[in-house]
Amino acid sequence: MSARPTPPAPFSTGSTPAAIGTPLSEHATRVLLLGAGELGKEVAIELQRLGAEVIAVDRYANAPAMQVAHRAHVVDMLDGDALRAVLDAERPHVVVPEIEAIATHVLADVEATGVRVVPTARATRLTMDREGIRRLAAEELGLATSPYRFVDTLDDLRAAVDALGLPCVVKPVMSSSGKGQSVLRTPDDVAAAWAYAQTGGRAAAHGPDDAVRVIVEGFVEFDDEITLLTVRHRGADGRDATVFCPPVGHVQADGDYRESWQPAPMRPDVLARAQEVAARVTEALGGWGLFGVELFVVGDDVLFSEVSPRPHDTGLVTLVGQDVSEFALHARAVLGLPVAAPSPVGGPGQEAAASCAVLAEGSGVPVFLGVDQALAVPTAQVRLFGKPRVDGRRRVAVTLARGADVAQARERARAAAAALRTDLA
Ligand SMILES: Nc1ncnc2c1ncn2[C@@H]1O[C@H](COP(=O)(O)OP(=O)(O)O)[C@@H](O)[C@H]1O
Ligand SMILES: [Mg+2]
Repeated sequence: MSARPTPPAPFSTGSTPAAIGTPLSEHATRVLLLGAGELGKEVAIELQRLGAEVIAVDRYANAPAMQVAHRAHVVDMLDGDALRAVLDAERPHVVVPEIEAIATHVLADVEATGVRVVPTARATRLTMDREGIRRLAAEELGLATSPYRFVDTLDDLRAAVDALGLPCVVKPVMSSSGKGQSVLRTPDDVAAAWAYAQTGGRAAAHGPDDAVRVIVEGFVEFDDEITLLTVRHRGADGRDATVFCPPVGHVQADGDYRESWQPAPMRPDVLARAQEVAARVTEALGGWGLFGVELFVVGDDVLFSEVSPRPHDTGLVTLVGQDVSEFALHARAVLGLPVAAPSPVGGPGQEAAASCAVLAEGSGVPVFLGVDQALAVPTAQVRLFGKPRVDGRRRVAVTLARGADVAQARERARAAAAALRTDLA
């Protein structure tokens, strides 16, 4: 890896127009993705459509976004020295985190040198840990959330469960996709939930004195769960502006997304409230980029759950549900370009869109069968992620479809997913 020169920043400042160079030249606008999964792959494609040079980084080789990037590096992103070395060698203009598990102090250092960290180094630090973002939202901004406590020992967990009542949810503060997460229904579940949180999350415990902190949340009997994709961008007047995508509804199983749809039917006043919550959280985090704001709708109330400062997996549905996908909106925003609120797509009979996650379980290299049958479902599309292998249970593809209403779109996306078979070779 040889050091590269840094050309002028691509962002307009004052009266200076924004400039985007040519990839693989000394005038390239370099964007480095930290995390190169299926969401990063779509972001990489959209960045390349806008003329950016894309460098993908992940901890394993041949990750999905690496397959479409100009260059790739295999690095443990929690290793600060290794991360710094790749940033020093590549000298990106923009660093786009796609995952939470990153040595965020290194991002703060590069931000201080004038590199744009998306959305900001502080936002990546606050959202990598459930505690940072929960305290910001509930205690600083005063937004409604589930009742919660943070605990470090099994005894404190028992006390928290007593205080919050059952059912409740236990999650390691550093985890995603439902890992280490359990729903407690009886007092007998407490010990197992503690043990799973200690081993299932991102930062596994190493001994009795090195326990993983967990959040205990009262279980919210929500009517609906939505992701409000919210974009902060450089507005026409040079000030930051915010636009929203039509709301995405979704269902989760084992803490992981299975199906999503758009637009999620919502009462206009509840949607307005949801947008207000999303605007407040994203404004407090700051920067430019797309955020996935996860909200619970309970009657007329909107509770804040969590936020990803990046495209959201439930937002894969935007690939067919709106004219400019969440990935394209993110690419525009991070390059300092203006963004308009996306329009729902679909003519008569195609007013709603849906996605269905395709999981593979076992060990081996995915081989997809029945792609032809999946695509025979009316309006269906597929995205096969190209994950190099599966060990355990992983999402390997998504199906997408439209319909006259959410029910029909979901039915079609599910039918396409059922037609798709994954062998692990
Ligand atoms: N307090 C809660 N009450 C009810 N359901 C919850 C609660 N917390 C999480 N869930 C369910 O679990 C899913 C995953 O939890 P979340 O906090 O979003 O973790 P992750 O970071 O793994 O996505 C949520 O989308 C929701 O369906
Ligand atoms: Mg979530």
